[in-house]
Formats: sequence, C-alpha cells, structure tokens
Amino acid sequence: MNVEDAINFANTLVQQQTDKPLSTPQTLIIRQLWLNRELTYLSIALANGYTEDYIKQVGSKLWKTLSAKTALGEKVTQENFKVVFERRWNLQPPTPIIDNHFVGRESEIATLIAKLRGDCRVLILTGITGIGKTAFAGRLTAELLGNFPESIKINFDHYQNTDFASVAALILTGSGEILTPEDRNNSQLLFNWIVTRLENNPYLLVIDSLEFILKGNGDFHDEYWEKFFNYLLSANSCRSRIIITSQDLPQELYIIGSRYPTYWHYEPLKGFTDIEQLEFFKQAGLDIGTDLDKSDSRTYLKRIGAAYEGHPLALRVITGEIISHPFHGSIVAYWKKYGHEIKKVEQSQEEEKVKSDHDEMRLDRYTSSLQRAVKDRVEKTFKRLANDVPNAYFMLIFGSVYSYPVGENFYFNTLETLGLGEEDQYAVLNTLRDRYLIEEMIDDNNDYLLRQHNLIRTVALEHLKNSKNGK
Ligand SMILES: Nc1ncnc2c1ncn2[C@@H]1O[C@H](COP(=O)(O)OP(=O)(O)O)[C@@H](O)[C@H]1O
Ligand SMILES: [Mg+2]
Repeated sequence: MNVEDAINFANTLVQQQTDKPLSTPQTLIIRQLWLNRELTYLSIALANGYTEDYIKQVGSKLWKTLSAKTALGEKVTQENFKVVFERRWNLQPPTPIIDNHFVGRESEIATLIAKLRGDCRVLILTGITGIGKTAFAGRLTAELLGNFPESIKINFDHYQNTDFASVAALILTGSGEILTPEDRNNSQLLFNWIVTRLENNPYLLVIDSLEFILKGNGDFHDEYWEKFFNYLLSANSCRSRIIITSQDLPQELYIIGSRYPTYWHYEPLKGFTDIEQLEFFKQAGLDIGTDLDKSDSRTYLKRIGAAYEGHPLALRVITGEIISHPFHGSIVAYWKKYGHEIKKVEQSQEEEKVKSDHDEMRLDRYTSSLQRAVKDRVEKTFKRLANDVPNAYFMLIFGSVYSYPVGENFYFNTLETLGLGEEDQYAVLNTLRDRYLIEEMIDDNNDYLLRQHNLIRTVALEHLKNSKNGK
C-alpha cells in the first residue's frame, strides 16, 4: 500500500460516511503522516500555513469518521492508522481510481452515450482550453466500458509525432499488434491495417487534443488523417467508435462528417450551468450553503461562477486559492480581498455583450473574451503564488519543461536542486496540488503521475522564459 492507495482508501470510507470526498487538510494529514511518522500536527500545520489547533481538530474528526462502525469499526488514531489501513486494505482488492469528482453534464452524457452505442462512429468534442473536454471524454470512456472493453488513448498534448504513420503504429501496438521497422514506415500499409482492425473489432479510440495535428488553417498536416476519417465514415459497417477532443473543429473533418450525419456527431462544450457551478464548488470542498440561505458566500460563489461562465479550469484555480492559506475556505474573506477582480470580469463580459449585436459575432467575441479572462485568471494565480509560496512558484515554472506527465520523483529532484529538505519538498508539492496547479493521474500502467494542464503549462513556460531573460 503506497501513500496514494492510503489516500484513496480513506477517501472511499469518508465519502461513504459523509457524502463528501476527503478535504484538502484531511488529505494533507494522511499524506504527511503516512510518509513521515515523526511528524506532529504542529509541524504539519506550520509547513502548510495552518494553525495547530485547526489541524488537530481536522485530524481528530477524521479518525473518528474512520473509526465509525460502518467504516472500519475499530479505533483508528494518528499512531495506528497506517497499520490498520494496511491490514484492512489487504483484505480487500484495491479499487481502481476513477475520477469521482466529475460534476454535472448528465443530459449530455446520456445523449452522447446513446449515440455512441447506436450508429455514431465519430464524436468530436470542441471548446476552449480548460472547458473540460478531456475530463468529459474520460467520463464517456468509463461509461462505455461495458460496450467497448478495449480503449486506446492518444493524447497529442504529450505526444510529439503527429504524422499518421507514427500514430497509426501507436494505435496498432496499443491493440496488441506487433510491427516491424519496415511496417512503421509504410503509411499505406498502416492505413489498411488500422482501418480493417477498427472496422471489424469494437475498439474505443480516444484522440485527445487533436488541434495539435492541425495546421493553422484547420486542415490536417498529414493527408492520411483525412483519408482515415473518410474511410471509416463511409464504410458499410464499423464496430469501433472514435471520440475526438479539439479546441477547434477541423474544417476537413467537418466537411467529411456532414456527408454522414448519422455516423458522426459534433458537440461543442460550454462551461457549467449555474447549478453545476455550485455542485462543482461543493465537490471541491467549499461550503455552498443551501438554496434557502441567502448568505453572502453563496451569492459570491454564484457571481464567481457566472463571471467565468462556469469555466471549470478557472473555477478550479479560484477554488484552490479559497481553500488555501490565508483564506482556508472562507469565501467572504476571499471576496473582500479579491472581489474587485471578479467585478472587473463581470464588467468586461457585460461590455462584450453590448458590443456584439449579431448572435454569431457575439459567440465569437464572447469566446475570446472568456479565453482572455481565463488566461488572466491563471496569471493572477501565478503572481499570488510567487508572493505566498515562492518555492512552489519556482517548481511550477520549472515543471513546465515536462511536456508529458511525470512521476513525483521528477518534482522531488528539482526541489532538491533548489535546496529544499524532504519536508519542504512535500509541502511544495501539496501546495501545487491543493491549488490545482498540477493534476494527478493514473496512467495505463497504473503509475501515479503528475501533469500540468496545457493552459497552466503555457503560462508557466512564459514565466520561465521571462525569468531566464531576467525580467
Ligand atoms: N465535469 C467536470 N467535473 C469536475 N471537474 C472538471 C469537469 N470538467 C473539467 N474539470 C476540471 O477542469 C480542468 C480542465 O478540464 P480539462 O478536461 O483538462 O479541459 P480541456 O481538455 O478542455 O482543456 C481539469 O482540472 C478538470 O479536472
Ligand atoms: Mg484536454
């Protein structure tokens, strides 16, 4: 049982007991005590900007929840939890980690699942960066597991070779084929091979961030891609399904797709609805109050959600700030300090609305103004981090050189070269995780990895360049 297993184990139990996932400070306590038995509540509090009393309180409540009859049913304490966890965990098979924080989008999911179980062969999800395309595709994949037990994922955020042959080779080896070096260079052979394979076998192929294999004008770099989609959409039958995410709708794909309306579907993703926004804040650990209470915090959250039009990434980094030091979840305190920024966003969104009178133009402007607002939001978060926790800021910008997800070790090594001791290294990593500036993932090999969202990474890279230029 490693630390992530322990956190997941506790999370499952706490969720069953309280209907809420492990909170940030709860996770912190488990993580740090698990990794270092010598730590005290005081040292955890100090390293993470909490008071000792607060951490003590969170800790004792956590052990109580875990000790409940319907949870572990035995006394769990700071001293014995590791032993108890391991003993109990070994008695049950480990549960796979699924993103249990996924919020909303229920009717879209139901509609699209029905389509993919039906005739729809190619589904393309579009929307600006951070709007939730990857998360949505992941959710669809999980739902479709029963129909398509084998899924193959290609993510162009991390994959450098965009020519058809290398990607086709990747898909084929992913589906268990063995390729010779000659095969790998023969585009036509790979093409025939792959389309036959997909036609006759039920694979779920997920192509994430397709925009990276498009040229500026929205056409494919490699004409084989066009052939590929043309073939699969016009084939008499095709047992596989393809889910694509992309920031823009590829022009060529649109033209091909429109010829086969029953076999393809195009779904632009928008931000969360009002209700989903509140649900999202709640899942992230904020106290949203109830419908009846007209509390300030609920009103502020609604305004924050609306100002960013329910954009998940923007809301996520804001939540990260509210949860962390010095606000510790106080929405009102956050608003007092930064409410003026939200008001400014509200204002500029309002101006855009007035300026654009045609619907189409409005949509365009709206999108780009939201995009600007989101990037601006990320910039602000970076600046604050640089002030509040400089080491975390340095780690964040150095981390941008990893264009693909990496193990924790990469981060620890960098932090070590920055001269940080072990405890501080964990504290930095936790800060970045808590503020949602790095995301955790489990890859196909069940390895625990860290990654930066594209938008976060883009901003981080800019900061890194500027810092090198001495700005
Ligand atoms: N429905 C959702 N529920 C909870 N979190 C979400 C949801 N959609 C997106 N997110 C979160 O928002 C961030 C951006 O989402 P992502 O899927 O990476 O966007 P995109 O692929 O469009 O750039 C991620 O941290 C993701 O976990
Ligand atoms: Mg994505």
